[in-house]
Amino acid sequence: MVTDFLIRPDADGDRAGIASLLLAAFPTSSEARLVEQLRKDGDIVFSLVAVEASDVIGHALFSRLRAPDSALSLAPVAVAASRRRRGIAAAMIEAGLERARAECWAAVVVLGDPSYYRRFGFSRKAVRGMSCRYAGPGLMGLALSGSGLDGPRIEHASAFSSTGDSH
Ligand SMILES: CC(C)(COP(=O)(O)OP(=O)(O)OC[C@H]1O[C@@H](n2cnc3c(N)ncnc32)[C@H](O)[C@@H]1OP(=O)(O)O)[C@@H](O)C(=O)NCCC(=O)NCCS
Repeated sequence: MVTDFLIRPDADGDRAGIASLLLAAFPTSSEARLVEQLRKDGDIVFSLVAVEASDVIGHALFSRLRAPDSALSLAPVAVAASRRRRGIAAAMIEAGLERARAECWAAVVVLGDPSYYRRFGFSRKAVRGMSCRYAGPGLMGLALSGSGLDGPRIEHASAFSSTGDSH
């Protein structure tokens, strides 16, 4: 693990840096637009940045789900190409999960590569039997407290569908 980056909640001054990072990290602008729309809608619960010499080099965002309302969605996660494979995404995800636990959120869902997210405890089993617009091999959940993921369906904040379904 390297120690030359800092992870902290984002601030207003980070918005341009986050947008540039997302535009460079993803093939389309849909993740950058997703973050702006979640912000406008008030659906961001917390948003973490990794910063190196005052540059935003990583971003991980936790937003509220519409259902179950005791759970969060982790998306997007991005690290600057030149800073990957140094554990920066892992450090942001761990910090976010720790904060979600401290705030007594029941669970987190993520859409991503199971071979990566499994190491944080995410599993397909945790979402089994729940319907979701994004159902598929990449949809995983992690119970943090109480009943974990509970209910018939997982429904993301409306920004996910209004800014494109590629998230
Ligand atoms: C996916 C993404 C966020 C990962 O960021 P990252 O900071 O490189 O992630 P980590 O360093 O935590 O882990 C990535 C790999 O580096 C390895 N790694 C971590 N620390 C390392 C280190 N110090 N030295 C070498 N490798 C290391 C991890 O084991 C992992 O390898 P594996 O998945 O092949 O087993 C980044 O690649 C990215 O921004 N991709 C484009 C956007 C995207 O697809 N986001 C995900 C969907 S929202």
